[in-house]
Amino acid sequence: MSIQQNLNTMRYPVNNQPEKSPFNAGETISEQTEKLSVLLLGSGGRECALAWKIASSPRLEKLFIAPGNGGTDAYGENIAISPLDFEAIADFSTANNIDMIVVGNEDPLVAGIYDYFSTREGSPLIVGPSKAGAALEGSKDFAKQFMVRHSIPTARYQSFTAETVEDGCNFLESLKAPYVLKADGLAAGKGVLIIDSLDEAKKALREMLDGMFGKSSATVVIEEFLKGTECSVFVLTDGNGSYRILPVAKDYKRIGEGDTGPNTGGMGAVSPVVFADKEFMRKVEERIVLPTVNGLISEGIVYRGFIFLGLIEVDGEPMVIEYNVRMGDPETEVVMLRIASDLLPLLEGAAKGNLSDMPLTEDPRYATTVMVVSGGYPGNYPKGKPICGTDNSTNAILFHAGTKREADGTLITSGGRVIACSAYGEDIDKALANSYAAADSVTFEGKYMRRDIGQDLKKMRKA
Ligand code: AMP
Ligand code: GLY
Repeated sequence: MSIQQNLNTMRYPVNNQPEKSPFNAGETISEQTEKLSVLLLGSGGRECALAWKIASSPRLEKLFIAPGNGGTDAYGENIAISPLDFEAIADFSTANNIDMIVVGNEDPLVAGIYDYFSTREGSPLIVGPSKAGAALEGSKDFAKQFMVRHSIPTARYQSFTAETVEDGCNFLESLKAPYVLKADGLAAGKGVLIIDSLDEAKKALREMLDGMFGKSSATVVIEEFLKGTECSVFVLTDGNGSYRILPVAKDYKRIGEGDTGPNTGGMGAVSPVVFADKEFMRKVEERIVLPTVNGLISEGIVYRGFIFLGLIEVDGEPMVIEYNVRMGDPETEVVMLRIASDLLPLLEGAAKGNLSDMPLTEDPRYATTVMVVSGGYPGNYPKGKPICGTDNSTNAILFHAGTKREADGTLITSGGRVIACSAYGEDIDKALANSYAAADSVTFEGKYMRRDIGQDLKKMRKA
């Protein structure tokens, strides 16, 4: 493998984007001529952004997305295979000479896709952790134990099952309000309850242990509430001790402006994050990234992929709220814009275990994304609404999430989060203006968006 050369004067046109677009992001040229065929798994805005970035690589032979959505087909070929159907993925990979599988969402990772392919001869490379590593997201109890074992700063906690429910109530009494209760297993982003009253918290604990989230809440983690501002740090690691920290982002989880109302998958994101300055990131690397990467190695856990650190800044100190084992959504829709380097060799380096000498350069501009969602989301919402106004302008790029293209070419809504409108700007205001102009031009019945993405960060800006 030859080393990547960063030739800042070189530009590679990205599929379907005009020459003068600010989105010709592939600035790294490789001497390496070997091309890679890639299969990307998933169907959200995150996968659309990953597909956009991967498609800009001069190293790409062909990109397939399984199953993809109404926007990913601009960057590769959508394939109607479920990311959880490992046998179908294996057959497709063999038939299409796939060199590398990039796993976008957590479900296949938690279900063991890495282990499935690593035991089959001639399998493609996998970007993602083994099943043991995916437990960092698949089990909050495992993640907390891991953090304690490696002295990684996190909220004080204890875990409880139906047998120890009374101990759980006693533990709640020892904490101050609000009370944080988490289903141990995957619960589609809904398994965390934050409750103000002690009685309500005890009631919720019993209900969770009684199957509120099915098997996922057979164990419940109770932890102390941390007050601070959250940010998302992404690390790409090769399982051999080398890693790259990607641009930091902040997402906006609540449906309502001013962070009110129920949690969603994420209503928008911004990168960079003003408080995640050099000093903060030094602490993150020293106290969280290094012990995590080295802890995985020391425990013999194979991990060649993305680690998502959900962090909270408490009085200037970073603490871990959660681990995820994939990129964030909608954070990816800004992080991909801010990676100036070619991502494909980095993904290959992570999957092969040789990331050590590969550069990752950041784009200095701001990137923002505003998610347009279906009215009613995150509760019930209608699907199948025709979407207009999605032509990419030169000032924004639309990453499709819940969209589907009908046989006659009509684009319709197919999910709660519909399209992430991402844009660059020299400052946060310019980026937001571009994102909102695009979000305003997208139309479908019942469309909703938050109007305050990034406003909290602007207030934090040092004058
Ligand atoms: P999680 O799925 O663990 O990320 O939790 C979902 C959201 O709940 C987080 O993004 C936080 O906003 C909030 N949260 C989780 N744990 C805590 C905590 N210990 N203190 C304060 N907020 C929390
Ligand atoms: N945006 C948070 C997540 O992807 O889990």
